[in-house]
Amino acid sequence: MENNNNREIWASKVGLILAMAGNAIGLGNFLRFPVQAAKNGGGAFMIPYFTALILLGIPLMWVEWGLGRYGGKLGSGTSPAIFESMCKNRIAKYIGVLGICIPLVFVIYYTYIESWTFGYSFFSLTGKYFGNETREAMGSFLHSYQGVLGNGEAGTNLPSFLSAYIFFMITLAINIWILSKGVVKGIETLAKIAMPALFIFAAILVIRVFTLGTPNPAVPENNVLNGLAFIWNPDFGKLSSASVWLAAAGQIFFTLSIGTGSLLTYASYVREKDDIALSGLTTSMTNEFAEVILGGSIAIPVAVAFFGVTETTDIARSGAFNLGFQAMPIIFQRLPWGQLFGGLWFMLLFFAGITSSVALAQPAMAFLQDELKISRQRAAIIIGSVIFVCTQPVIFYLGHGFLDEMDYWAGAFGLVVFALFEVIIFAWIFGMDNAWGEINQGAHIRLPRIFYYIIKYISPAYLIVLLLSWAYFDAGGILILKKDPYGDPIQTGDIIYRLGARLMMAGLFVVIALLVRYVWKKNRNEKKYASTS
Ligand code: PHE
Repeated sequence: MENNNNREIWASKVGLILAMAGNAIGLGNFLRFPVQAAKNGGGAFMIPYFTALILLGIPLMWVEWGLGRYGGKLGSGTSPAIFESMCKNRIAKYIGVLGICIPLVFVIYYTYIESWTFGYSFFSLTGKYFGNETREAMGSFLHSYQGVLGNGEAGTNLPSFLSAYIFFMITLAINIWILSKGVVKGIETLAKIAMPALFIFAAILVIRVFTLGTPNPAVPENNVLNGLAFIWNPDFGKLSSASVWLAAAGQIFFTLSIGTGSLLTYASYVREKDDIALSGLTTSMTNEFAEVILGGSIAIPVAVAFFGVTETTDIARSGAFNLGFQAMPIIFQRLPWGQLFGGLWFMLLFFAGITSSVALAQPAMAFLQDELKISRQRAAIIIGSVIFVCTQPVIFYLGHGFLDEMDYWAGAFGLVVFALFEVIIFAWIFGMDNAWGEINQGAHIRLPRIFYYIIKYISPAYLIVLLLSWAYFDAGGILILKKDPYGDPIQTGDIIYRLGARLMMAGLFVVIALLVRYVWKKNRNEKKYASTS
């Protein structure tokens, strides 16, 4: 289906909501959230978390939908054109480059992690890792898969690493194929299949977890109830720590896909008169259900039931991957029908991942199609090739922090910066009355007026506070590569790899900026976008 700018539009309301929910619901909901909650005060984490949801998450969701649908009217699904049209200023389009660059950087490492979930679903169903029953054994299984030298390990296991490479290639190929089919036949169809499957898998796993009771009667305190208590009982002492508030806001950004430009691009395929107020809210709520209810009820409670509180804390501290790819596989080995449950868990992650990775690639797709007038199929091949090439250092230098560096700048810092630009341009430069009008056009619900003020004052102020506290607490050490984002010192040998990651990201930014410059010169977009509003 095409609209009058020759751009696609979502074929159905259900499809739109499922695609948007698919965008938001990702690895963040099932791996990142439980670890963040467990590390940052359990139930007390929910206070800064829901504060950030109301004051940042939902308002910025509306901002992105508003910007995106406005872009659709201009015939463009990316931020350079939208920002320029709203700002009437030549610099604005270069700020908009962030809305293509950040998701592109994101998708480069995200697709690789997604391919692990694909690989591990096979390994579960076939029982490949069965026999590795300790954390050490499962840890070295993961390390040889990733091709990373583990503690004291002699070398990598080539066949295992090769299988990782092959799973990555297949995952990328599926992504490219879906992108080449377009928004309706590709992304919307994927969401209509993957999202219901995801909810069914998650429901089965939650029921399995809740009926576990006490797996080992000899250690009665290791049970599911204590697992739920561990993630939900509040440790209010943590609330006074700034880092908990930062972590909560960071999680809201990551999980709702805010501040990358990917929601914006999806919203550009909405009809001009269609509701975005209720749809944006529904997307947020669906994501929160998947995160807090489903994501919070699987990995951590089951880990406590099998490993106990102390060890689970240790696992959570050591990172989201260790919970998902190290602790969970051990548990599946101890469960009856474990191969099947393992398969379900990793398929769940894979579906969550793929509906997000296509969303991350779509801004770059839209840019090539809308601005450079490249066909969808060719655009998919170009983007796929860029992802393929740029993932090579991510794969080969994983152990040197290449992926971490990208995740930090795109998945934690970039989001906040871009969100600030979005809200300033929409609410202040375009003007809050215009912005409010955009959000409410065609709305199926009446938005409480208070959100007018939240979007105008509170959300930007919140973002500025986040950036200032970042500057105060973290910036120094991280910028000069003295410590990593977790506060650990960076080994001298790894500095070069992290610098390499920064260089690659900067390179991508420059290339996209040059393309913007080229296409604007060629097509006189300045006039086009500056006059239509
Ligand atoms: N929200 C996704 C997740 O929870 C990640 C994502 C971020 C996807 C930004 C698209 C854009 O995993």
